Amino acid sequence: MTLACREDDVPPGEGRNITLEGTRIAIFRTDTGWYAVDAVCPHRGGPLADGIVCDHAVTCPLHDRAFDLRTGESPSGDRVTVYPVEVRDGEVYVEVVRAPVAA
Ligand code: FES
Repeated sequence: MTLACREDDVPPGEGRNITLEGTRIAIFRTDTGWYAVDAVCPHRGGPLADGIVCDHAVTCPLHDRAFDLRTGESPSGDRVTVYPVEVRDGEVYVEVVRAPVAA
């Protein structure tokens, strides 16, 4: 896992953009825990870290598509990658998982 930020860097209920190992990730601190997903909305590139966070979902600020931060799924059928997050001693770590390359 890679150090992403400190807990204090993200206020409760907000998201932040980070780049880890060349991957742009939106990290969220919610009432139900920490989550990390692709930073860019698959619809038209909206900045998900700037979206409205409620429970375990974020709503894209551009066209209001909601994404479940646990699964990456949206009722619209769009999907973002979800990255595992761990918090240890006030530091937040993210596992940057790359999709396997098709043979
Ligand atoms: S760009 Fe995110 S909903 Fe359109």
